Amino acid sequence: MTLLKVENVTKRFSGLTAVNECSFTVKSGTVHALIGPNGAGKTTMFNMIGGAFPPTSGNIVFDGTQLAGQPPYKRNRLGIARTFQLISLFNEMNVIENVMAGSFCRTKAGLFASLFSLPNATREQALTRKKGREILEFVGLDAGPHVEENLARNLSYGEQRILEIARALASDPKLLLLDEPAAGMNPTEKVRLAAMIRRVRERGVTVLIVEHDMRLIMDCADIITVLDHGSRIAEGSPDEIRSHPKVIEAYLGKGAA
Ligand SMILES: Nc1ncnc2c1ncn2[C@@H]1O[C@H](COP(=O)(O)OP(=O)(O)O)[C@@H](O)[C@H]1O
Ligand SMILES: [Mg+2]
Repeated sequence: MTLLKVENVTKRFSGLTAVNECSFTVKSGTVHALIGPNGAGKTTMFNMIGGAFPPTSGNIVFDGTQLAGQPPYKRNRLGIARTFQLISLFNEMNVIENVMAGSFCRTKAGLFASLFSLPNATREQALTRKKGREILEFVGLDAGPHVEENLARNLSYGEQRILEIARALASDPKLLLLDEPAAGMNPTEKVRLAAMIRRVRERGVTVLIVEHDMRLIMDCADIITVLDHGSRIAEGSPDEIRSHPKVIEAYLGKGAA
């Protein structure tokens, strides 16, 4: 079943075409990778799916709904959650609060009432906290005493990236967008990340991932779409993409293939 359909999407920034007539389809239950050299338009594509800005032309349909005109919080409620290329945690909040913040698109009381502990919010908040703990356990960030009370900024860089994913998962997404989640991680953390992405898929969450680490992509992607200069140049299984002449050329320059 199709979860996300990107149809002939173009994005122009004044003179520059960042994404050019790009189409691809993400199937439910898959880990779908979007790869390509720096400047290929990957983050721009994520920004259009997440609703940071609209495409110049083209359509994006999520789970049967046209996304045009829907602001980011509505897309989050529809089931799209994302992490950012640069870490964007609430540094002065502790670990569990960061995860809980991801849930508020699903609670009745909302973030404001919860922050000020209004009566109706208290019970809901206890449930949100319980769910937050379950997610921290799921992503493997529950180890060590007092980890929940630790401020986000005290975590290692790799742990902060995982915490961002935990926060995104707290909104119960159907589609999780990960923009370079392995950036800055050490090899051990990358292996753990790949395993976690596979568990996210097992949980029933579809993943669209932008990543430069080819080993990680080959390790967990079911299908890969390749962008170069804003255009889709190839799509296929990891094995097909590994040996695709156009892909080799895009990464290594003409003549390499
Ligand atoms: N907000 C923006 N304003 C102007 N140009 C942008 C903006 N965002 C991205 N670009 C340009 O669009 C192109 C694609 O960028 P980006 O989507 O970030 O690539 P990638 O994530 O594949 O490295 C680049 O040339 C970049 O400089
Ligand atoms: Mg990028």
